[in-house]
Amino acid sequence: MIIEPRMRGFICLTAHPKGCEQNIINQINYIKSQGPIDGAKKVLVIGASTGFGLASRITSAFGSGASTIGVYFEKPPKEGKTASPGWYNTAAFETEANKAGLYAKSINGDAFSNEVKQQTIDLIKADLGQIDLIIYSLASPVRTNPNTGITHRSVLKPIGGSFTNKTVDFHTGIVSDVSIEPANEEEIENTIAVMGGEDWGMWIDALKAEKLLADGFTTVAYSYIGPAVTEAVYRKGTIGMAKNHLEATAFTITDKLADLKGKAYVSVNKALVTQASSAIPVIPLYISLLYKIMKEEGIHEGCIEQIGRLFKDRLYTNGDVPVDQEGRIRIDDWEMRDDVQARVATLWKDATTENLPAIGDLAGYKTDFLNLFGFDVAGVNYQADVNEMVDVPGLV
Ligand code: NAD
Ligand code: NA
Repeated sequence: MIIEPRMRGFICLTAHPKGCEQNIINQINYIKSQGPIDGAKKVLVIGASTGFGLASRITSAFGSGASTIGVYFEKPPKEGKTASPGWYNTAAFETEANKAGLYAKSINGDAFSNEVKQQTIDLIKADLGQIDLIIYSLASPVRTNPNTGITHRSVLKPIGGSFTNKTVDFHTGIVSDVSIEPANEEEIENTIAVMGGEDWGMWIDALKAEKLLADGFTTVAYSYIGPAVTEAVYRKGTIGMAKNHLEATAFTITDKLADLKGKAYVSVNKALVTQASSAIPVIPLYISLLYKIMKEEGIHEGCIEQIGRLFKDRLYTNGDVPVDQEGRIRIDDWEMRDDVQARVATLWKDATTENLPAIGDLAGYKTDFLNLFGFDVAGVNYQADVNEMVDVPGLV
């Protein structure tokens, strides 16, 4: 069938298999062009189908020749109805990995559940023996805690007082004020339950109990800090409390890994257009101003460039892993440069519907958003008939 983007709010209901495939090939080619990385050989990526997790899987496989297992939650295709993009991404990744002689298998299901953890344990036992690296890259609005059966929903709200600032609807380009009422205590707790570190810890405990973590094992989860303009709704808001919890969990996990001389890290990554970040108020306006400046400075990166740098210049340098005072890896260093942030702050004050296309990179935002779903990708013929019924070769 001919597949076109169908937008509803912050999501796109369709995805293009050929566009997703081209995105994967582009990312693989980028990682190969950067030369080999002396990294982990047996890698589990939790949240492996899109965004930073997908980039981590590609970097492990095509940078270090790793065998990879991916866990994700994606919608398979039905006749006449496309899959979600992460399904097509994974199909393309596993096809390319197999062509390159690399082991690549995956599990599609709820990573928060005991069942998916058990399935993963069984797969590791059967095929890989032990794991050297776990990347934890989930972004979800909801989590059912398997021990309590309670379903928690996260919110993106400020804490302590209401927050008003500018935002942009990136579909229409309209800049307006948004006001968000503060979260109550229960909403804060629920957001921590979904996006904090509890489930990361559960994964590590479950695999360690089965002796599936190798000596010198490493695990990395992703966090964000960002600028003053987004602080009230991000880092000092509900999601920031969850990120504080995630960051604290790295230390708890490291303590538990002492006998393996293992280590848990949080890496603070750059703001990027992903399905997760598009839904956060204020962030799209910030990203469109940031992109403009970082592109002008020649320091713009996408997920794959960020993760390539994380592996090459931070995790696998054959020296100590450089961290900040809080023990976090920082690959948001270019985003947070003083000169970059000073320019964003100035543009932020001026930004209007009329001038945003000129002072910000709204076009780049839109393209990146469409690219997430395999649309607007260079070299893809969108007039051609494509088969939506694509199989994921390594799906267990
Ligand atoms: P994303 O939406 O692109 O990826 C989320 C992944 O999680 C997908 O693979 C999805 O299938 C999977 N997933 C979601 N719910 C699941 C479930 N219940 N079971 C199994 N898999 C599930 O998100 P992203 O932007 O790559 O975010 C990944 C991490 O990076 C998050 O912790 C996020 O906070 C962090 N981060 C994002 C940004 C940004 O700007 N996008 C910046 C810094 C850090
Ligand atoms: Na991800």
